[in-house]
Amino acid sequence: MTKSLLFVCLGNICRSPAAEGVFLHLLDQRGLNDQFIVDSAGTGGWHVGNPADRRMQAAANKRGIQLPSRARQISLDDLRTFDLVLTMDDANLAAVRSLADEAGSQATATIQPMLSFSTAFSETEVPDPYYGGEAGFEHVLDLLEDACSNLLDDICPSS
Ligand code: 4NP
Repeated sequence: MTKSLLFVCLGNICRSPAAEGVFLHLLDQRGLNDQFIVDSAGTGGWHVGNPADRRMQAAANKRGIQLPSRARQISLDDLRTFDLVLTMDDANLAAVRSLADEAGSQATATIQPMLSFSTAFSETEVPDPYYGGEAGFEHVLDLLEDACSNLLDDICPSS
C-alpha cells in the first residue's frame, strides 16, 4: 500500500524541501518510489511558488541529491490526506498540531518531529539555516540523511 509523507518547515525553501529530496534520493537508491507519495510544505506562505533556496540546492547537489519542489503552504486538507507529517523544529510542530486541532477528527495524519528518527545526533530540531553560512546547510543535510534513512528503515524494514 502507498504511504504518504509530508515534510514541514517554516518557509518550505530550505529544510523541508531538503528532507523531501533526501528521502526521494533514498527511495531511488532502494527502488521504492512507487510505494510512496512524498511532498513538503511550509507553515508560512511568504515563499509560495519559489524553488528551494540556491544555497540549499547547491549543498544537496554536491551530495548527488536534487531538490525538485516548489514552495507551498500547508493546508487543513494535508492533515486529512497524508499518513505522516514530519516537522523540522518545535515551532513547526506546534503550528501543525494547532492546524490538526482545527481540523478535528478529520485530521488523521500522524505528526512527528523529523529528528525523532535520528540516531547519530542528539539534537531534537533541524536548525533553520536561512540566515547563516554554508556550514549550516551542510549540517541540515547531515541531520536529514541520518533521520530519513532511519525513517525509511522504520517504514520498510526489509528494504
Ligand atoms: P525553512 O527556512 O523554514 O527551512 O524553509 C526559512 C526560509 C525563509 C524564511 C524562514 C525560514 N523566511 O523568513 O523568509
